[in-house]
Amino acid sequence: MSDQVSEKLTGEFRTLVSSACKARLNSHSPYSGFRVGAALLAVDGRVFVGTNVENASFSLSNCAERTAIFAAVTAGVHDFQAIAVCADGVNPTAPCGACRQVLVEFGLDMVVLMAGQDGADGPISQTTVRQLVPDAFTDFRSHVRRDPEGGPR
Ligand code: THU
Repeated sequence: MSDQVSEKLTGEFRTLVSSACKARLNSHSPYSGFRVGAALLAVDGRVFVGTNVENASFSLSNCAERTAIFAAVTAGVHDFQAIAVCADGVNPTAPCGACRQVLVEFGLDMVVLMAGQDGADGPISQTTVRQLVPDAFTDFRSHVRRDPEGGPR
């Protein structure tokens, strides 16, 4: 579930959507022709961007959201307030399943903003990682094992 927030989006989040749309223009997507940009707002206010990078060997392609996360982590940043995703297409695009699981790693309360090709001037949906991934798998160490001595063989 997500809310339509186009009108009531705050300045910082609106700027984040615009940053995602700008990053989208650098997409390397000759196979799908579908450009996606992402912008990640860190708790300290810094913004990290990413775009989708496709490959002739299709399965090696990387989504915009994960590119942004990996750039931030490479810079030593792990705490995020929000991520904006801006993709080609009239309607907002939601992160794929793989990207959702990567977002889970960095916080269920992270805000997720989704926009279409018109960016901040078009429809924008808002949700959270928690809402995108109900019953998320987080840490295997939190699971009580019936046979704690039985390890991998
Ligand atoms: N894509 C993203 O970058 N993020 C998503 O959440 C959905 C899909 C990219 C992957 C591929 O390069 C293109 O969009 C078409 O699937």
